Amino acid sequence: MPRQACWQSIALVYNPALPDQPTHHMFSPDQLHTIEAQLARKTERTQLLEIDGRQIIVKQLEAPLQHWGYPVLNALACVLQQPMLRAVPAPGGKAAQAIEIARLRALAAAGVSVPEILHVTPAWFALSFLGAMSVDQLLRQQAGQAQHYWASGLQAILELHRLQQTASQCFARNMIWHEGKVSFIDFEDDPTSSMPLASAQARDWLLYLHSTAYILPMDAEQIAQDFLLHLQQDSSDVQDEVLRAARTFGWLRILPKQRKPWGRDVISAQAAAQVLYLAARQAGKKPARSH
Ligand SMILES: Nc1ncnc2c1ncn2[C@@H]1O[C@H](COP(=O)(O)OP(=O)(O)O)[C@@H](O)[C@H]1O
Ligand SMILES: [Mg+2]
Repeated sequence: MPRQACWQSIALVYNPALPDQPTHHMFSPDQLHTIEAQLARKTERTQLLEIDGRQIIVKQLEAPLQHWGYPVLNALACVLQQPMLRAVPAPGGKAAQAIEIARLRALAAAGVSVPEILHVTPAWFALSFLGAMSVDQLLRQQAGQAQHYWASGLQAILELHRLQQTASQCFARNMIWHEGKVSFIDFEDDPTSSMPLASAQARDWLLYLHSTAYILPMDAEQIAQDFLLHLQQDSSDVQDEVLRAARTFGWLRILPKQRKPWGRDVISAQAAAQVLYLAARQAGKKPARSH
């Protein structure tokens, strides 16, 4: 990992310029008792609870994870010269909770709209509830306004990057509609621990496109145009990296477009690749491969 990226991620967590970390112990013993009783009633790891009239999200520890695919991904990233493909370690368990809390603090300090941390215990932490609708749900349920919501997501990514930050898993389901704008959730890993900030930001654009292009009721040329309009306001490093990926992966548009029998992974890759191909073309750079 380049030294600069390494220092950037350390600075995010241990910036001495930040005020002392708040302790995040908002709830009284009675309220804690109520929360724990409610958590015990259901098996879901993340739950929406109501405590004294306030809605909160409680995220419990996940089992520690092990990923055998890391070397494969890292080799692929190297061969294809796409640093953004590098595996981002997602440790699960206590380590994941510590990363998520540190990232939420750092993002909030940088001015990004993320949930507020209300309370932290060794087994769970509580966050402010941002709202019930993710961008994914809005695109599916309000097709008439899909372009508006989609562009709001693009704008949110741009603003996140202008604050020199990156999401963790920039999928539409991790982007929540909050007070007329898009906020980000779900920070159990830190991409800048395994790649430079610009690569992590390029990855944000691609993950967002990958999680939305196949849902959008818009033609691919229009999607590419909106995508480029926002991407071209990001830093030139990020633009270059996204367009390089577009030229590497644009040929995947030859994948099937039918959901049956291929499934969501295939059609989402096909739709994203189609848009990337058109975006690279609109940007005036011919894709390297033309199948
Ligand atoms: N602060 C929040 N406000 C609103 N909804 C949230 C919030 N945090 C989590 N959620 C909801 O809970 C789901 C799971 O939370 P998330 O942080 O994405 O965890 P996971 O690691 O399980 O994907 C999200 O998809 C979203 O629907
Ligand atoms: Mg999630």
